[in-house]
Amino acid sequence: MRHVAPAERVDGEVTVPGDKSISHRALILGALATGRSYVGNLSPAADVESTAACLRACGGAVRPFGDGRASLDGAGMGRTLRSPDAVLDCGNSGSTMRMLAGVLAGHDLNATLDGDPSLRRRPMARVADPLRRMGAQIDTGYDGRPPITVQGRDVLRAIEYVAPVASAQLKSAVLLAGLAADGPTTVVEPAPTRDHTERMLRMCGVEVSVGAGRITLTPAPLQPFGMRVPGDLSSAAFFLALAAARRGWRVTCPNVTLNPGRTGILDALRAMGASITVEEGEAAGGVEPAGAVTVEGGELRGTTIDGDLIPRCIDELPVLAVLATQAHGTTHIRDAAELRVKESDRIAAVAEGLLAMGAECEELPDGLVITGPTRLQPAAVDSHGDHRLAMAWGVAGSLALPGAGVTVIDGAEAVAVSYPGFFDDLAQLTTGTLPLAR
Ligand code: S3P
Repeated sequence: MRHVAPAERVDGEVTVPGDKSISHRALILGALATGRSYVGNLSPAADVESTAACLRACGGAVRPFGDGRASLDGAGMGRTLRSPDAVLDCGNSGSTMRMLAGVLAGHDLNATLDGDPSLRRRPMARVADPLRRMGAQIDTGYDGRPPITVQGRDVLRAIEYVAPVASAQLKSAVLLAGLAADGPTTVVEPAPTRDHTERMLRMCGVEVSVGAGRITLTPAPLQPFGMRVPGDLSSAAFFLALAAARRGWRVTCPNVTLNPGRTGILDALRAMGASITVEEGEAAGGVEPAGAVTVEGGELRGTTIDGDLIPRCIDELPVLAVLATQAHGTTHIRDAAELRVKESDRIAAVAEGLLAMGAECEELPDGLVITGPTRLQPAAVDSHGDHRLAMAWGVAGSLALPGAGVTVIDGAEAVAVSYPGFFDDLAQLTTGTLPLAR
């Protein structure tokens, strides 16, 4: 449980931890490469620790050496990983379960992947289906939910897969299995999603071509790499959205990922009337764009977030919904039914919390309709064990009416899943103990 008091003023620079999506992939690709890879600024997220632990249980040499640095010694595709002695515990991490299912399918081994009660409710048939078509034997629990058992093969069939949902985890599972295929593997996406896997595979010397929604990987051995992971824009999003809410408030987050599949939050904030400055820096590992983002608040207006923008800000929709309560007019979030199968049903849970704080909010099957502006009332809200909800309520509590008490967040410890230090950084920002924004 955590108490959050309304913020009086927000002006500061917040350095957020390493990107979770990139960290998962750095560990996986390092384990598959031939030779020693080095990764810096790895995410401290519990989810990333789940990936590291599963890789180790399959024989992957992931050696942390402090400060978010790790070395990985891979013996090459098909030569490093072996059957684990026990069930692989993916914890709360859908990325771990789905991407590792793809990796393990391309190895002659047998493994079972399971997770916590939240992960056990999430759909896995979407990865089981293409991996079976590639020749792996995949069993899932009731209704395509975890656990997943993978009986992999050294050589899989190359396929062309038309993905039924826009999901980077699904795309990545198929591409990673494609590393063991007998020819080029193609994934066709219904809408563009984050392309970290494609960029980082290229960093490892694998040919991945892209055109008109089609991504084709030609299998090849992976070369080792060195990479310093940029900050996580999805973690920065909470502070950037908070700054956007009031004229005169400002936040800078230095060195965060600017992968175009992730920057939908910046487009949405801009559409709502916030002022955004991006200073692009050096690309991480030579392939992942990164830079400093500054957001200055202003008078916000409602907007529509739908279509191709949704996968580009899927993890930021809870905090965008909180911000929408501060905008003049109505914000429509649509085409986001995927939110119902995230770490919690984020549509129901966001609506419940916003209503508890006095906002005007209507739930749709695939989104939310929010009308503002409302001065939020401090209230008791629930994370439902979902890290992004815990952080969104931290932002909502910071925006609540001063003098009316504090917001009490039940299940706030869920932030450890992606950003263990979130509430400390939020407290520092809202009490003015950080350096000023640029
Ligand atoms: C992720 C992809 C997205 C996102 C998740 C991380 C990734 O999930 O919500 O937090 O690293 O590929 P989906 O692939 O299910 O959309």
